[in-house]
Amino acid sequence: MLAYRHAFHAGNHADVLKHAVLVAVLRHMNLKDKAWRLIDTHAGAGAYDLAHVQARQHAEFEQGITRLWEVPGLPPLLADYVVQVKAVQREGQTTALHESQVEAQASGSLEADRALRFYPGSPVITRALMRPQDQLRLHELHPTDHGLLLKHFAGDRAVQVLHSDGFAGLKAHLPPPSRRGVLLIDPSYELKRDYPATFDAVKDALARFAECVVLVWIPQIADREAQALPQRLARVAQAQGKRGWLHAQLTVAQPNERGFGLLGSSMLVINPPHTLQAQLAQALPVLVQRLGQFAGASYRLDAQTG
Ligand SMILES: C[S@@+](CC[C@H](N)C(=O)[O-])C[C@H]1O[C@@H](n2cnc3c(N)ncnc32)[C@H](O)[C@@H]1O
Repeated sequence: MLAYRHAFHAGNHADVLKHAVLVAVLRHMNLKDKAWRLIDTHAGAGAYDLAHVQARQHAEFEQGITRLWEVPGLPPLLADYVVQVKAVQREGQTTALHESQVEAQASGSLEADRALRFYPGSPVITRALMRPQDQLRLHELHPTDHGLLLKHFAGDRAVQVLHSDGFAGLKAHLPPPSRRGVLLIDPSYELKRDYPATFDAVKDALARFAECVVLVWIPQIADREAQALPQRLARVAQAQGKRGWLHAQLTVAQPNERGFGLLGSSMLVINPPHTLQAQLAQALPVLVQRLGQFAGASYRLDAQTG
């Protein structure tokens, strides 16, 4: 039984890094008219209400998206990401809302444009950046979050919502007929087997479709498998990919008194857009400055172009 619910973490520093990279990659995909397909192996609920008790329990978004909300002069990659989150405030994400909140929004009692209230997950961010020719495949195993996703995308023919294991399910969707594809692998890693499963899934995906742009989110924690995963994936990218890899790591916090905790996270991108490294070189120092929770906050940006 899966215990993890992304609603407790929506909009935190890890989401900021992951979703800013996702937006940049999709912008690049949209430079060509040819259709693309994104496969999200771990989709979550789609969108989140930050006023909900789950999000408010630890208010992780206050150490994440909140810190970028009203900041002028952000580098383009971050500014574009914040624009995507702002767009969600205007539209409202009704599946993430309770009825009373929907009424409040409809009656204009929420300052929808300015206040940060809703946070889009990877499915909603991707949907917003899709053109009519593009496709989205979502996998989510948690029954509640799968139900929320289904409701959110009901009747949307461009989106397929699957109640299935994303690691196993991705095979059916690669390569896409247009041979333009993005694979987002964003596990909660609550199961130890998620590390080898992520590695195997990437290897298999590249064997099927070497040009696939692969995005993997990796937690920065005191765990040998988590620490080894970026290098292991980079080696696979080098051997099986077409355009190298990029690894962006953001460290925002110190370990707790027992030496544990989420210190930050990273995104490993295989076959990255050629502009991504320069965009991240601008954005990461700003993320350190804005999201860092201690004086030693830092970033690393490593890349090998193929
Ligand atoms: C970190 S959250 C995803 C967040 C989402 N990608 C986003 O950026 O908004 C991970 C999700 O994966 C789901 N999950 C865990 N194992 C899974 C699996 N093997 N296949 C599909 N979903 C899984 C969890 O229920 C959880 O909702």
